[in-house]
Formats: sequence, C-alpha cells, structure tokens
Amino acid sequence: MFATSPLAGSKPDQYAQLADQTRGLVHGERDRTANAANIAALVYHSLPELNWVGFYFFDGTELVVGPFHGLPACVRIALGKGVCGTAAATRQTQRIADVEAFPGHIACDSASRSELVVPLFRGDELIGVFDIDSPVPDRFDAEDQHGLETIAGIFLESLA
Ligand code: SME
Repeated sequence: MFATSPLAGSKPDQYAQLADQTRGLVHGERDRTANAANIAALVYHSLPELNWVGFYFFDGTELVVGPFHGLPACVRIALGKGVCGTAAATRQTQRIADVEAFPGHIACDSASRSELVVPLFRGDELIGVFDIDSPVPDRFDAEDQHGLETIAGIFLESLA
C-alpha cells in the first residue's frame, strides 16, 4: 500500500519530498497509463488549491485526455490551441496567472482561474502534456513550475 506523507518545510523542500514520493510510486513500472494515473492522484492529493491534475497524450494528430483527477474534461485539444496545445506546440511550460486573460483558453472546469502546463517530450517526440489547474488566481510561482517540471521529468524517465 502506498501512503502519502504530509509535505513539510519550505516549498522547495516540499517539492523535493513530492519528487521522492513520485519516484517511489513509479519505481519498477513502465506502463504509461499506470504511472500517469498514480502521479495525477498523488499530486492532486498532496498539493493545496488544485481542481484538476492530469495528462493529455499526443495521438499523432492532437492531444487526447489521459488519466486525471478532477471534473470530466474536454477530450481532444488541437496542437496550438488552448494552454495545453500551446505548451505542446511551443515546447515551453505555460504558467498562466489568469486563464481568462489567455487568448483561446479552453474552459473545461469553470472553477479554474490559473493553470500550469508542462510539455512532455522524449527527445523530439511529443508524448503529451502534464496539466495542473487551480481555482485560485496566480496559484503557481516559479518554485511550483520547477517542482512540477521535475515531476513531469520523473514520469518521462519512468517510460524509458
Ligand atoms: N484549460 C486547458 C484545457 C484542459 S483543462 O484545463 C483540463 C487548455 O486551455 O488547454
């Protein structure tokens, strides 16, 4: 059984603990769906003020929703569309303080106010995106971005 322990200390310390828990969770497992599902559950239950945590995977044409925690979401997102499609098309993490100010933002859960989307690439190959939404405006700072990019990296390494 996997027991999450409460995160403690400074925010970087907490993300270091969350990264360790993530490594433990995926250790010895390469299945993409299994690891994405467990990471979505871990992050959703470990960090405060989130309403959606999950993955979209690239099917060769567009992004298709994968394992997540939160309300049901839009199934398909074209590359370049919304925050997710922009992260995939630009290969840059999108840290959006106010989703309503983001042109083309796709509102899946109307409670979402801020969003962080990490693109997932293996070399030049687009795997998908890791998407985290918050009902709180400006929820994510640079430390959150670094911590969540580290977790995305652990997910990618687990597939190797
Ligand atoms: N807001 C995202 C869509 C996915 S949901 O947040 C789960 C976007 O604009 O791409």
